[in-house]
This record gives sequence, C-alpha cells and structure tokens, in this order.
Amino acid sequence: MSPLARLPWAPPPPATPAPSEPEALAPDAIASPSSAVIELFDVTKTYFVQPPVEALRGVSMAVHQGELVGVVGPSGSGKTTLLHLMGTLDRPTSGTVWVTGYDIAKLSDRELSALRAGRVGFVFQQFFLAEHQTVLDNVADGLLYAGATLAERRQAAEEALSRVGLADRLGVRPTQISGGQRQRVAIARALVGRPAIVLADEPTGNLDQATGQSILDLFVELNSEGTTIIVITHDVAIASRMRRVVRFLDGLILDDSASGGAGPRLAGAEIGPTVDGAEEAAGRSGGALSPGDGPDGPDGPEARA
Ligand SMILES: Nc1ncnc2c1ncn2[C@@H]1O[C@H](COP(=O)(O)OP(=O)(O)OP(=O)(O)O)[C@@H](O)[C@H]1O
Ligand SMILES: [Mg+2]
Repeated sequence: MSPLARLPWAPPPPATPAPSEPEALAPDAIASPSSAVIELFDVTKTYFVQPPVEALRGVSMAVHQGELVGVVGPSGSGKTTLLHLMGTLDRPTSGTVWVTGYDIAKLSDRELSALRAGRVGFVFQQFFLAEHQTVLDNVADGLLYAGATLAERRQAAEEALSRVGLADRLGVRPTQISGGQRQRVAIARALVGRPAIVLADEPTGNLDQATGQSILDLFVELNSEGTTIIVITHDVAIASRMRRVVRFLDGLILDDSASGGAGPRLAGAEIGPTVDGAEEAAGRSGGALSPGDGPDGPDGPEARA
C-alpha cells in the first residue's frame, strides 16, 4: 500500500476505475530500468524557436520514493523545463524520461494525462486558484479527473485543507485570504489526489520568509509521510533544508549532493534571481515559456540567508 494511503485525509477510492488509474495505461508501457520514481537518462530538450534554445543538454538523474529534492540554479538554467518533463507536461527532444515506471515517450497524450492526474501534484509560484470559487471547491477540483463524485471530492478537499491548517476557511474565496494561505490552498489542491510525486516550482517565491518557511515545513512533513517532493527554489534558506540539492547551470547538472557527499553543498551556489512569470506556471497545460533573461550572476548564500 502506498504510504500516502495512510494520510488521514485520503479520499475513498472511486468505485469504478477512473481514467487516472493505471488501467488507463497500456501495461506494456511499463519499462522502468530501476526502482526510481522518476528517472532521466541523457535527456535533452530543445525549444524550436528562432534561434533554437537548448534548455537541457544531456541530463541524467534518478529520484527515489520518499526523497525531498531541491533544484537550484540561475534563471534560464533549465529548472522549469526539467520539472515539466518530470511532470509529463512535456516530452524530451532526446533521451528517456521514466515516471513511476512509464517511459513517457511511449504514452499517448491521453495516457500522459492519466499518469499525471493519478500520480503527480503540481504547486506553482502563481497559485492559479479560481477566484470565483470557494477555497473548498478550488481544492475539490483537483479531483475532477479522478472519477469521484462531488460529495467525495468535497470531503477529500475538506480533509486536505484541514491538513494544511485551513479547516476554518473552506467557504471563503481566494481573494479573502493571505498569500501564504493561498499557497496552502494550492498545496492542498496538489495533494488532494494523493499523488506519489509533488513537483513545486518556486512555491515560496511570492511569500515572505516566515511564510515560506511554514510552507516548507509542510513539505517536510508530507515528505516524512512518504510523498516524493521536488522543489525548485532560488531561496538558499529553503534549499538548505533539502536533504538533496541538484544544481543546474546552462542546461546541465553542475552538482548533485546525492552523488557527492552527505548533505547539500551550497557554498558558492549560483542561485539566480527570482524571475518567474505567469506563463511558466501556465505550464499546467504544457509548453510554457519561462523568462530566462534575468541576470545570471552568482548570488551567494550569505546574500539571501
Ligand atoms: N516554451 C519555450 N519556448 C522557448 N524557449 C523556452 C521555453 N521555455 C523555456 N525556454 C528557454 O529555455 C531555457 C530554460 O528555461 P527554464 O524555464 O527551464 O529555466 P529556469 O531555470 O526555470 O529559469 P527561471 O529561474 O528564470 O525560472 C531558457 O533559455 C528559456 O528562455
Ligand atoms: Mg523556472
């Protein structure tokens, strides 16, 4: 049984197999070379604009179940591109990406949506909440493609919101709560379907440091319960709490603490400025453009800690 099934707010399983269940995926698509939850082998990603942009230039890495991984690097170094590939929002130009055992190149768009809906939760810097809907229904919508009834979705949403400390805000609209609370709603929405993997792109980028730390506390807690979490961050204080830090530069992995030592090695890390746009988070629908034109200068830990 998945460790996530133990979470107190886990929704009941749908009566009939939902499109997000593995049944929707061709069994012969399973071809994972290892036990990794996510594995990339020699992955490149070129955006065929004029001139073409080689966003990833040969990346290999594996993330195992239960890991909490920080991804850092200057603006334009390929972090969001990596996250989109890991989240099956996009396909690599070459190389192989396996997500929970599936080679994503071998899946149809429909199968990719099923894989995503059932196993991956996204949290973005921009919260992307529907302002005309209540907090409860914003989270309940996270289960729209899971085959649950409205009552089941709301029940699961209520439990997920309690989990992030917002049980008393179910009926209000996102405009009536603070930025940190909105991000917690977004996290509840990402978690409501009990995904095996949570991918977060600058989840604390719009928050003050204390609020950002409380969001991170939440990630750490969820991770301790078994959720695999990958967080892109420019914030050294956040990255320093990750057990593993992967540092990107110019479309390549510059350093991976998992392969080089006991803990994160951030000394001299080039952690670029926070330059993230709404388009990037709109990558929920695939093919997002991220501004990569910010200054790439080193920004030492002491400058931000
Ligand atoms: N949809 C796209 N079309 C064309 N180029 C793109 C697209 N998305 C990203 N790029 C380019 O690919 C490179 C890597 O972008 P990516 O968004 O992955 O960087 P990043 O590390 O997330 O940067 P940031 O920290 O600014 O968010 C950049 O040069 C960027 O301009
Ligand atoms: Mg980015």
